[in-house]
Amino acid sequence: MADLTTNFLGISSPNPFWLASAPPTDKEYNVRRAFEAGWGGVVWKTLGEAGPPVVNVNGPRYGAIYGADRRLLGLNNIELITDRPLEVNLEEMARVKADYPDRALIASIMVPCEEAAWKAILPRVAETGADGIELNFGCPHGMSERGMGSAVGQVPEYIEMVTRWCKQYYDRPVIVKLTPNITDVRKPAAAARNGGADAVSLINTINSITTVNLDTMSPEPSIDGKGSHGGYCGPAVKPIALSMVSEIARAQETAGMPISGIGGVTTWRDAAEFMALGCGNVQVCTAAMTYGFKVVQEMIAGLSQWMDEKGYESTSDFVGMAVPNVTDWQYLNLNYVAKAKISQDDCIKCGRCYAACEDTSHQAIAMSEGRVFEVIDEECVACNLCVDVCPVENCITMVQMQPGEVDPRTGETVQPDYANWTMHPNNPAAQAAE
Ligand SMILES: Cc1cc2nc3c(=O)[nH]c(=O)nc-3n(C[C@H](O)[C@H](O)[C@H](O)COP(=O)(O)O)c2cc1C
Repeated sequence: MADLTTNFLGISSPNPFWLASAPPTDKEYNVRRAFEAGWGGVVWKTLGEAGPPVVNVNGPRYGAIYGADRRLLGLNNIELITDRPLEVNLEEMARVKADYPDRALIASIMVPCEEAAWKAILPRVAETGADGIELNFGCPHGMSERGMGSAVGQVPEYIEMVTRWCKQYYDRPVIVKLTPNITDVRKPAAAARNGGADAVSLINTINSITTVNLDTMSPEPSIDGKGSHGGYCGPAVKPIALSMVSEIARAQETAGMPISGIGGVTTWRDAAEFMALGCGNVQVCTAAMTYGFKVVQEMIAGLSQWMDEKGYESTSDFVGMAVPNVTDWQYLNLNYVAKAKISQDDCIKCGRCYAACEDTSHQAIAMSEGRVFEVIDEECVACNLCVDVCPVENCITMVQMQPGEVDPRTGETVQPDYANWTMHPNNPAAQAAE
């Protein structure tokens, strides 16, 4: 059986599934239930002090985007950091950590950008026995207007400065949680490393307005007729998170820096993808809020089964394995040729592939009598749109052409190997050869 135990920054947990800092980790009651359900660790809901009091709205604080089956795809929230007293949170954390020594317990912290504020809170957090801290430089609403959260995460100099204070006044691992509301995520990640951070975690939520009520003309969630932007998370943000994680994993300035992956993790497969891109573990919020704590049991079972099938004995066997395969566009092999293929056995004759290809793509699907849809190889550029719009999984596949075959679209022979690789003109090697 695969061993799911992970050791992230020297913090051991029985599996790589941690709950992210959010309502699921807001109090002892929740965290105990989460640990009983099997979560490997938690990042406690962000603690704060020394700023103005934290008062949440009394109206709806969440909004959502749904798929056609009303499955929740994206969640928006306008919630602040914890509104419970710091002392109560610290006492609860200490009790929980004492009772669950084998689980990871991380304290998320957000206090004003003043050295004294960090210096004051860190020893109190240390006393709880928490395994480490996570600096919340990511919340995009409510706290950022007060110069905290993403207001810090958007200024690399502040990140570096605060991280340095934390490393000075706290002797356990420091994780810097990054905001995605920034142009180039490598810069804040590098600043975290320069400040001495042991790891980065990402992503926090993305600025968003999920809907506008067209009767009241107010963004939702609406509080007495007015709304403000919130933070977006859930399955919809996973592609953005994966891309940002890969950028940090590939960047020279941050190469080898431990990463905790966050953003839309709902299944074991999502987790494995983050880990393949370099994350030592993952954090989950929306999936737990949607399906409850026991969702972790599916994640554990799925990951363990997949690892067994692949022959991975521990998670470190595959962490980062996909990183070398992430490249810049100009390095893609122009000799690679594929064609779409429609399985007539699986086709339900809905014609979506035909409509999409005929109207908006390359007119590479023919419809014949009886609504039989077939690919015209002479026109197909393998763009994948038909696969993407087909409602039947694996009904349309992209089949790679073999070396020596002639592409009926271009009349060119598919090249046998990488050595004969046709480079894109933007590839620096192609420019050098000219
Ligand atoms: C209601 C809600 C409250 C959150 N509160 C915090 C918070 O206090 N501190 C923090 O660092 N992140 C907070 N987050 C962000 C999550 O920790 C996480 O980064 C984000 O939701 C992406 O993960 P997910 O797609 O699994 O939800 C919150 C998210 C939600 C939905």
